Order: sequence, then C-alpha cells, then structure tokens
Amino acid sequence: DDSYEEECDYLFKAVLIGDSAVGKSNLLSRFSNDEFRLDSKPTIGVEFAYRNVKIADKIIKAQIWDTAGQERFRAITSSYYRGALGALLVYDITRRATFDNVKKWLRELREFGNLDMVVVLVGNKCDLGQSREVDEEEGKNLAESEGLCFMETSALENLNVEAAFLQMIGKIH
Ligand code: GTP
Ligand code: MG
Repeated sequence: DDSYEEECDYLFKAVLIGDSAVGKSNLLSRFSNDEFRLDSKPTIGVEFAYRNVKIADKIIKAQIWDTAGQERFRAITSSYYRGALGALLVYDITRRATFDNVKKWLRELREFGNLDMVVVLVGNKCDLGQSREVDEEEGKNLAESEGLCFMETSALENLNVEAAFLQMIGKIH
C-alpha cells in the first residue's frame, strides 16, 4: 500500500465513534499500520491516521479520525464530524451497555454528521466469544433497521478489520 503514496485521486475523511474501550484506537492502528496494543490508554482529544487504498483503479487517501469515547476527553463535536463522509460506529460484543448506547451515537451522528454519510456498525472483540453479551444477529438486525452496514471484527486477531474499513471507503465512492 505504500506504493500508492505518490499520487492520490481522492481524499476522504471518516470518523470512529462509540463508547470508551470498545477498541476504536486499536481498530485504527491495525488498519493504518498493523499494530495492536493490549495496554492502550484511553484517547484524549482527537487523533488521526491515514491509509491509502486502491478501489476500482482509483487511489483513495483515507483520513480516519479517532476521538475519546469518554465524554470528558472529547473535543468539540461539530468539528469532529465536519466533512466526514463515513463513520465506523463501534461497540464491544462483550459489553451489552456499549451496544445499548449505539442509539445515542446514532443521534449524535445524525445531528452533526452529513446526511448521506456511509455508516458501518462494528461489533468488535469477536475473539472473546466466551464472554459474548450481544449476538451477531442482534447487531445485524439493528444495522438493518437503521440502514447501516454491519460487521463483527477483532482488532486483536486482525479479523475483518480491513473489510470493515474497506466496506465504508468503497461505499463512499
Ligand atoms: P477510548 O479511546 O477511551 O474511546 O477507547 P477505544 O475505543 O479507543 O479503545 P482502545 O482501542 O483503547 O481499546 C481498549 C481496550 O480493549 C484495550 O485494552 C485493547 O487492547 C482492547 N481491545 C481492543 N480491540 C480488541 C479486540 O478486538 N479484542 C480484544 N480481546 N481486546 C481488544
Ligand atoms: Mg481510543
């Protein structure tokens, strides 16, 4: 992918949202430089990473923004969403509360985000099947009723991480 560094045809901004500790930062570090940290710290403010991807012969530079799930560490919401064409809305399949909060995140997204944003609902930590509190079917159903794409991922095992980002980026296009 580094070979696409030179020229890019499009620049897209996308955002990560969801409760604290669902794995947003690790999904991003896995996608952008194939890194995972078991001991990662909560994000403070806003960070971002880039990755170039090739879709249908076009080189797309994806600029992915990552912010804190914790309210007190979050930066100004409107600027976070400004210009974003896609979002990954992440919950943790082992913590039901993070799934219940998806509705709250959707309200914020619809208040501050673009109306035609491509949103992928992501159930992360699917490597922890024995602690599962949210069935895959529930995630699918919610996504369907809200008009979102859906995928279960594991940043730890690198399962579907690329697929989730590429689904979003591919649909923006
Ligand atoms: P905030 O920045 O506070 O909003 O949290 P976050 O959503 O960015 O979570 P982060 O990526 O920091 O991950 C939180 C914890 O979950 C860390 O201990 C990670 O190692 C762990 N984690 C992230 N993804 C996975 C995963 O797919 N599987 C497992 N087992 N653990 C994960
Ligand atoms: Mg984070």
